[in-house]
Amino acid sequence: MSTLLVRVAALPGGRTSPAYRDVRTALLDSVLTAAGLDLGGAVAVLRRRCLTCGGTDHGKPEVPAALAAGWHIGVAHTATRVVVAASGAGPCGVDVEDVDAVARAPVAPVLLAPEERADAGAESVERLARTWVRKEALLKAVGHGLAVDPASVVLDGEQRAPRVVRWAGPGRAPVPAAWVEDDLPATLGVPRALVSAVALRAP
Ligand SMILES: CC(C)(COP(=O)(O)OP(=O)(O)OC[C@H]1O[C@@H](n2cnc3c(N)ncnc32)[C@H](O)[C@@H]1OP(=O)(O)O)[C@@H](O)C(=O)NCCC(=O)NCCS
Repeated sequence: MSTLLVRVAALPGGRTSPAYRDVRTALLDSVLTAAGLDLGGAVAVLRRRCLTCGGTDHGKPEVPAALAAGWHIGVAHTATRVVVAASGAGPCGVDVEDVDAVARAPVAPVLLAPEERADAGAESVERLARTWVRKEALLKAVGHGLAVDPASVVLDGEQRAPRVVRWAGPGRAPVPAAWVEDDLPATLGVPRALVSAVALRAP
């Protein structure tokens, strides 16, 4: 069985939808069942922990019953969809972005390291969006999320399984153990969205 699983659902309104929590829970149940976990009929209860301040109302999500069995989870959403990932290979993170939204936002100055900015003029918006989801998925897997400056991180961009080539976050550079990347099918809404999920090698 794969140790990195991803599930996606369409949801008009995204996180602002009244159905958001139920859709997220259903996706978590689905992905953890696919991982072979038996939650005893209980829905996947999500807990959060912030690595920066220790708060429990924000920060990296986890499902305690799954974590006890060695499975980590990640969550992301756009205006029209919800994505969850589950990893049995170490902490994981996931991100998804609508390419059209990336095109409208001044992303490059906050996302790219100086050496990446040199090429930014020639970058297609799809490539910029892919760099965004890769970096944010990695930073979520580490658990600090965007509390770590994404412009301080460089991934080698061309491979399907990117490596971390520069790291200025806390601790040692994370080592990806598995990487999933998909362009979401047009049936799920905006046709040019991306999803990316990364599991980190367990320390
Ligand atoms: C929270 C954050 C990831 C939201 O990014 P976004 O693009 O608006 O939202 P996304 O859809 O990509 O991700 C949202 C999901 O990320 C997850 N998430 C939040 N913080 C996370 C973290 N530190 N690590 C991993 N995942 C995290 C949550 O599960 C959230 O979904 P939920 O609200 O349904 O639980 C981003 O703003 C961030 O990393 N902020 C960190 C700031 C911080 O920690 N500051 C210090 C506070 S003391």
